[in-house]
Amino acid sequence: MAIVAIASPKGGVGKTTSTIALGGLLAQSQSCLAVDLDPQGNLTMGFGIDMEKDQIGSYDVMTRQETPEEPIIETEMGLHILPTDSTLARAENEISEDPKRFFVLKEQLKSLQNRYTNILIDCPPNMGLLTLNALAAADAVLVPVQCQYYSLRGLDRLFDEISDIRKTYNLRLRLLGVLPTMAENTLMTRRVLEELKKRHHQVTIFKPVPKSIQFAEASFVGQPIHHFSRNRKLIEPYERVIRAIAPQTQNTPKEYLL
Ligand SMILES: Nc1ncnc2c1ncn2[C@@H]1O[C@H](COP(=O)(O)OP(=O)(O)OP(=O)(O)O)[C@@H](O)[C@H]1O
Ligand SMILES: [Mg+2]
Repeated sequence: MAIVAIASPKGGVGKTTSTIALGGLLAQSQSCLAVDLDPQGNLTMGFGIDMEKDQIGSYDVMTRQETPEEPIIETEMGLHILPTDSTLARAENEISEDPKRFFVLKEQLKSLQNRYTNILIDCPPNMGLLTLNALAAADAVLVPVQCQYYSLRGLDRLFDEISDIRKTYNLRLRLLGVLPTMAENTLMTRRVLEELKKRHHQVTIFKPVPKSIQFAEASFVGQPIHHFSRNRKLIEPYERVIRAIAPQTQNTPKEYLL
């Protein structure tokens, strides 16, 4: 089982959109669960799931009131979702005194080991306890970066934090790479990509995902991008990330590099 966290403390960079796209693609050939670990619940909503008031979800799993099997929902395309609503925000406080508070998700996901080949975790836009749980549980972390100049700021610090988390909580954790998102045919995008490669030559920089209104439209109708659009340019960058997550099922791993 491979667990991949999609994380960045910056908001609106494409974490949820990427989790949906990758989950949808992975579910075509493998068993895959997407965990909504963001109290905003955008992943849950992105699949058209409307949580009932008392419906169990990530909150109940993070507070150990439920095992993760119970709340999981199966979507039409075969991808399974551990959904959430805003109650998840309370979990951070409720487990803050727990000596094992960084490892709740890791422990909970163990019971799913034989059920899924891949688990993706959509993180909230901060490095709080929920994201730390995701990184303590994950084998790899994917960092989406918007193709804006200011996006490069803070990236060094984020990589340092990931490195500290690896040393402190999870020696298995590897940086899968940076996924540039919302790329345009502009000087700005080209500069950002050049700078990324120059400053972070030790990190895999994936082929950028183009900016397209079709991503918002797909999430409006609760579908991953490959169901909604026939535009290969939007889908191919995500296929390359899949090859890095699950290289055994694909070929030529070098190909995913920019
Ligand atoms: N490649 C893209 N082209 C155009 N719009 C995009 C693209 N990827 C994402 N978006 C849009 O950008 C917005 C933010 O994307 P998304 O919700 O995936 O970011 P996020 O990092 O999960 O945000 P948050 O930090 O709030 O959780 C959404 O409206 C989404 O539809
Ligand atoms: Mg999000």
